[in-house]
Amino acid sequence: MDKYERVIEMAKRRGFLWQSFEIYGATAGFWDFGPLGAILKRRIENLWREFYVINEGFYEVDGPTIGIEDVFTASGHVRGFVDLVVECKKCGEMFRADHLTEKHNGGCPECGGVLGDPYAFNLMFKTAIGPDSKRIGYLRPETAQNIFTAFGRLVRFYRNKLPFGVAQIGKVYRNEISPRQGVIRLREFTQAEAEIFVHPWEKRHPRFGSVADTVVRLYPKEKQDGINITVGEAVEKGIIAHQFLGYHIALAQSFLTDVGIPLEKLRFRQHRVDERAHYAVDCWDAETLTDRFEWIELVGIADRTDYDLKSHSEHANADMRVFVSYDRPKTVEQLVIKPDMGVLGPKFKDMAAKVADALKALSIDQLRGEEIAVKIDGKIVRIDPKWIEYERVTEEVQGEYVVPHIIEPSYGIDRIVYALLEHSFEEECVEDDDARIVLRIPPNIAPIQVAVFPLLSKDGLVECAKRVESLLRQNKLLVDYDESGTIGRRYRRHDEIGTPLAVTIDHQTLDDDTVTIRDRDSMEQVRVRTDEVVEIVCGLLSGDVSFEGAGTRI
Ligand code: GLY
Repeated sequence: MDKYERVIEMAKRRGFLWQSFEIYGATAGFWDFGPLGAILKRRIENLWREFYVINEGFYEVDGPTIGIEDVFTASGHVRGFVDLVVECKKCGEMFRADHLTEKHNGGCPECGGVLGDPYAFNLMFKTAIGPDSKRIGYLRPETAQNIFTAFGRLVRFYRNKLPFGVAQIGKVYRNEISPRQGVIRLREFTQAEAEIFVHPWEKRHPRFGSVADTVVRLYPKEKQDGINITVGEAVEKGIIAHQFLGYHIALAQSFLTDVGIPLEKLRFRQHRVDERAHYAVDCWDAETLTDRFEWIELVGIADRTDYDLKSHSEHANADMRVFVSYDRPKTVEQLVIKPDMGVLGPKFKDMAAKVADALKALSIDQLRGEEIAVKIDGKIVRIDPKWIEYERVTEEVQGEYVVPHIIEPSYGIDRIVYALLEHSFEEECVEDDDARIVLRIPPNIAPIQVAVFPLLSKDGLVECAKRVESLLRQNKLLVDYDESGTIGRRYRRHDEIGTPLAVTIDHQTLDDDTVTIRDRDSMEQVRVRTDEVVEIVCGLLSGDVSFEGAGTRI
């Protein structure tokens, strides 16, 4: 068994992950998070919230997972969210064209049969809205779009000031062509995304200084071998295009290492032009090295420019601009439009004032054509350029309207869960014993925070242990009480699922009201007073207390 198989075997057996609908033979691309996996995932999401919602101040929203067709037409997904698929003419198996390698000599990797011509396959799941099924909907392929469509409301919520960010965690759906990578390529998965709206030509980050010295391993697109460099230097040299991307690369590194992804198994790779999403001008993936799949993407950090807002603005005829004030007002000389009311009045009668206002709202560029059209009460009105005069005026301008650009860190939470399981999974040989499997998950992420064991299930130890369990639960800790099997087996069970601490109640507890706390990683134990156990366990979990200083070493 390779490491992927060993990790998945443990994950299934111990209640982290398993394929959905197993009793019906399962379907590739769908996995359940079991009791421990669901808590682990939630803890990772909550750490993400600490980073992005609390520290960055990006309020979280929660939109529907089904979107209407208009949204995905405007976003480009109906046209562009496709992979090329080829089908074997002999066995009917489907393959992603870009996953076929030359070693198959153009034949089917399964049966050697002849492959058909490639065709484009849209990865969105299509559905119908309402009982008459007339309205097409799609399961969202990314969380981002309902943030973009609500831009007008969000910018007012943020009092019309750039930059601002909006976060969202939720399920997304991609109808992958024949996913063969287990839990790594899912058809339904959880994204945690932040959409950061920034001034289009002012991509300096207000807190860039706080990350400038962070060293990251970069694989720039034109040079796909790595360099270790500070984000400050990378931005200065133009390797990273601007401070906003640099800041979010550093932040992603900080989040992923806090989750438990080892720094030496992390790199940031810039997309080549041919692999960028249709909406991005630049994208850096945070990738981690796995045993079976090599480098896999955990996070994409993209510069989406004004692609989405402009497109929604055009398709929905909605204003997606924000007024940005200059530091100091600018004096500018400009041409202003003077509609000739002597002509417009008789021609348009009671609509004339509306026509004049609509003309004044047009830019000089929009007025250059041979014929000018404005929309009044839903009707197109054609204007002869001769009916307009221009005047040159000097004005004091306070600011201007801009369509913001969007910087987007997008996290794949399910892959982070898998990567964490793989990177923290260790099989150790312990003297005179079988291999110990230990999941070295950071204590603040571990599903079960503390185990409580009576050494024996007699002599009053159970009552004492239940009292300790209750004390810990009252302090909102997730506790597992276990009295079955030898104490050694109980420790092993919890080592394997990553429980960082185990409290044991033994005969000495009855004499002096002390218990032992065992550390998962070192297997060392300290003895502490029962009335201090909650405070010490909380301190050990948060890292405020070190194990060495926690009590009397045994
Ligand atoms: N929103 C980025 C992505 O879906 O990949």
